[in-house]
Amino acid sequence: MERRSPARRVRRALLPRPQSPRTARLVRLDSGSRALRELRDALLRNPREIPCKYFYDDAGSALFEQITRLPEYFPTRTERALLEARASAIVESAGGRKLTDVVELGSGAASKTVSLLDAALAAGGRPRYVAIDISAHALRRTQEILEAARPEIPVEQVLADYTGDLQLPPKPAGGRRLVLFLGGTIGNDEDEEAIKLLSRVREHMEPDDLLLLGANLITDPAAIHLAYNDAAGVTAAFNRNLLLNVNSFARSNFDPEKFDHYAPYIVEKRRIEMWLVAREAIEVQLGRLAGTLKLARGEGIRTEISRRFSREEVLRLIDAAGFTPERWIESPDARFGLALGLARASLRGL
Ligand code: SAH
Ligand code: AVI
Repeated sequence: MERRSPARRVRRALLPRPQSPRTARLVRLDSGSRALRELRDALLRNPREIPCKYFYDDAGSALFEQITRLPEYFPTRTERALLEARASAIVESAGGRKLTDVVELGSGAASKTVSLLDAALAAGGRPRYVAIDISAHALRRTQEILEAARPEIPVEQVLADYTGDLQLPPKPAGGRRLVLFLGGTIGNDEDEEAIKLLSRVREHMEPDDLLLLGANLITDPAAIHLAYNDAAGVTAAFNRNLLLNVNSFARSNFDPEKFDHYAPYIVEKRRIEMWLVAREAIEVQLGRLAGTLKLARGEGIRTEISRRFSREEVLRLIDAAGFTPERWIESPDARFGLALGLARASLRGL
């Protein structure tokens, strides 16, 4: 039987290409005990979970890029249009030609970032672009896209888990840094982790540096539901592929074909939850995690939450992490918002 054909096709089509000499630094990923413990704890939790960063092996990153082009998945094109329309205003707020560093967390293919870099060039600047991502595939795509589109922009790639040790390269004296966290990825965390992550980012920033945070806003539940339940089954393949990434990391033996993709929009919690649900009673050997995982028929593992926010919630979030809200930009259909925040010298109230 042919299994996982969409992911396999992608894997063949996107064989790794040699890294360009512009790849400046690679931070070693945590492949050791901390990550194993985190994964084991998540699988033993009630409900069982697998951290969503496991989506992004080579095949998963390529599937995510396919998702962003699906007719049902509106967040990427909504945010792209917003960034294109408002790039000059954002760059102007970030210091115009004084903007020396654009740092992106979870950059993915970074195709939306080009409009911001263009606006910085048009303002007379020549910023360096630093892409931080857990996926080597995503970083290669960033490099390819920027090399082709804007060869004059120096690119630095950082292969790292931004929930671990975070390093932002030093910026030139007198320069200004703009940190991007786009795509609504902040919604893949609960408030506590989101504030912790943004606070740690803020600690590495200086007053005057800015954060641009993209967030999915509360909208029509049926439209949100469709975005995670596409007709072509790409999101289902993306969800199941996470188990293959877990297998290669933990040497476990999850069989993705024994799980159903289930992704309801929970109105009360204003979030999508992605689940993998056992089609039958399953025993999984957990390899380096030690032990066996027994799942009853119908038992699920939660693989992602994807939250929808109000404008007030987004502004409160960045404020709690030490950024003073400077500007709010919203798409005409009110489905996506961008918050620009100025790094404060210290956390309010501490
Ligand atoms: N910003 C892009 C990509 C969003 S997908 C966009 O808006 O389209 C989320 C990206 O974050 C992926 O490229 C994934 O590899 C990366 N990512 C997820 N968890 C991460 C982590 N813990 N550390 C670093 N990168 C992470
Ligand atoms: C990366 N993140 C914002 C995406 C989202 O929509 O939450 C990941 C994704 N999951 C399913 N489709 C896309």
